[in-house]
Amino acid sequence: MLKQIVKPLLTWYDGHARVLPWRENNHPYRVWVSEIMLQQTRVEAVKPFFERFLAALPDVQALARCPEDELLKLWEGLGYYNRVRNMQKAARVIVEEYEGRFPEDYEKLLALPGIGHYTAGAIASIAFDIRMPAVDGNVLRVLSRVKASFDDILKQSVKTAMEREVQEIIPAGRAGDFNQALIEIGAMVCVPNGKAKCGECPLAFCCRAKAKGIVDELPKKKAKKARRIEKRTVLVLREGNRVAIRKRPAKGLLAGLYELPNLDGCLREEEVLTQIRQWGLAPLRILPLAGAKHIFSHVEWQMTGYAVSLEETDDMEQSGLFFIDAEETEKKYPIPAAFAFYAGYMDIVLGQERYEERQRDV
Ligand code: ADE
Repeated sequence: MLKQIVKPLLTWYDGHARVLPWRENNHPYRVWVSEIMLQQTRVEAVKPFFERFLAALPDVQALARCPEDELLKLWEGLGYYNRVRNMQKAARVIVEEYEGRFPEDYEKLLALPGIGHYTAGAIASIAFDIRMPAVDGNVLRVLSRVKASFDDILKQSVKTAMEREVQEIIPAGRAGDFNQALIEIGAMVCVPNGKAKCGECPLAFCCRAKAKGIVDELPKKKAKKARRIEKRTVLVLREGNRVAIRKRPAKGLLAGLYELPNLDGCLREEEVLTQIRQWGLAPLRILPLAGAKHIFSHVEWQMTGYAVSLEETDDMEQSGLFFIDAEETEKKYPIPAAFAFYAGYMDIVLGQERYEERQRDV
């Protein structure tokens, strides 16, 4: 039944595709960077990151040799930092094994670090017009509705079945447009949360969910496990113009990024001061800060904070903390968005908010 969506979908796309920076040309590097960024981030949020990333690292060679801190800084605010670490690993493979050119082959793309079925399909189809599907959450929503399917779209078996069905109808010569058209319909027309614009939809004529009046009941997703809650105490430790940061461990959550020093649990002033003295530092004053919350995919941090001024002493670096000028921190050190609220007390602005500020200024 899906074959009938192909023509109306492509005609609609020809007239309605958004002008987006990554659609200026179909170079595989651009397609790859944009698709990875778009996996967990909204289109509007991705735009400035994409432009800046491409300006700083215009090709796989530049990405392959970029120092890690610089790379993470370019990603700061986008979250899910393993995405960009894997991109660098893949870039190195492309440079070493493929002479710096993306393989024009779905299976070889799929074998690269960080490239799953969706991304391999997006690159293969958009950059090389290979007839492979790129089924993301948008596409699953559209197709669940067209088919009036109550299958759980979070199940891998359901995704795989959907990919097979899509693959059969991808038109030769327009594989990339077809995949993007499905994504675009999902993003612009067949949207979630009771806002679907069925009156504008080129697929309304064959949409079974519309015919049955059940558009808003689909797609079906089994409830996910609740997030674990962690309490943390974040410290803005200041000595003169310098503020303490430290590097996170190379493995685990936010691996290798920099952070404001922080402690397990929701601590009282005296407990914080005891810890600071154990680090060999000399606190002068302590001030409680407002609470803040940050939501990761599997964990939620509920944070309290303290600003602590320190006396200058000889061996402050022995604490394992780096004392850095706020301005230098803002320029050089990648600090995840989880700390954005407390970084505000250091007079620095991080990642996403930096763009929002800039956009307000112009
Ligand atoms: N979301 C994921 N991929 C996309 C693309 N190529 N264009 C617009 N939105 C997207």
